[in-house]
Amino acid sequence: MITPVSETRFEGLVHRGKVRDTYDIGGGRLLMIATDRISAFDVILPNPIPGKGLILAQMSAFWFRHTRNVMPNHFIGLASDRKALADIPATGALAGLPQEMGPRAMVIKKARRIDVECVVRAYLAGTAWAEYRKSGTVHGVRLPSGLRESDRLPELMFTPSTKAESGHDEPLTWDQTVRMIGEETSVRLREASFRVFKSAAAHAERRGMIIADTKFEFGWVGGELTLIDELLTPDSSRFWAADAYRPGETQAAFDKQFLRDWLLSTGWNRQPPAPSLPEDVIARTRERYELALQRLTGS
Ligand SMILES: Nc1ncnc2c1ncn2[C@@H]1O[C@H](COP(=O)(O)OP(=O)(O)O)[C@@H](O)[C@H]1O
Ligand SMILES: [Mg+2]
Repeated sequence: MITPVSETRFEGLVHRGKVRDTYDIGGGRLLMIATDRISAFDVILPNPIPGKGLILAQMSAFWFRHTRNVMPNHFIGLASDRKALADIPATGALAGLPQEMGPRAMVIKKARRIDVECVVRAYLAGTAWAEYRKSGTVHGVRLPSGLRESDRLPELMFTPSTKAESGHDEPLTWDQTVRMIGEETSVRLREASFRVFKSAAAHAERRGMIIADTKFEFGWVGGELTLIDELLTPDSSRFWAADAYRPGETQAAFDKQFLRDWLLSTGWNRQPPAPSLPEDVIARTRERYELALQRLTGS
């Protein structure tokens, strides 16, 4: 039985996000601990999903290793990986980190974040489908008519959005992105996003999975453009099973859709506090995350 981790309290906390607690451990490095918190509609729910953080950290670690040859990233190693951390001094929160926290904690290079969420879409889903149905466009770009929900897009699309400190992210047009971060960086972000996406999607396909869309974050480490944050987890991506893929309808993603549906069925108004989750909703949500890890990484 896994003891759920709702919150961590070590020295050097720099950020407590919806899901992860981040500590500065000195030397230009951070320790990012994935807790078992879960959010829906941007509200943190009262119950943790035991083991979810562990699954997210393992998945990110897998993808950072898998894509390191196509794009530099911030990942140094999981805190439980002695070999990867051999040259890293155990300072700050890393020093006294309880052993059971190791596999859910990533040691990463601290970056100067670029405040753009780099969304890549290969399939027509979510807000993109909503926009297409209404206006025939995705991110303002006109697409061929007659596409169905969940259809594969004619080509990969880069649909960035703002990285809002609080509240909802807003779509950023290409021109807005260029005004914010410059044309050269915009082009590099799009190119890097496509490269990482293609590498991951090819792997997923070999394992019978579809990556419908995902969100990347980038930053600068020294002068180097670097992939940061979490990578290709169910919290940042839509994963579908290829053998269950049925265009023309909403696909069952390996994420918290089940939880969202349950929340809406209670009549909750999406304002905090959220209702307390029944055991079976917790168990089934956890199952989806576990299945995603197994199917994508084989572990
Ligand atoms: N290598 C890095 N350097 C600096 N900041 C990072 C790095 N990787 C991720 N971050 C930032 O750390 C935070 C992670 O916390 P998260 O739990 O995702 O919170 P949020 O709810 O703010 O997204 C995010 O703000 C993310 O942009
Ligand atoms: Mg985040």
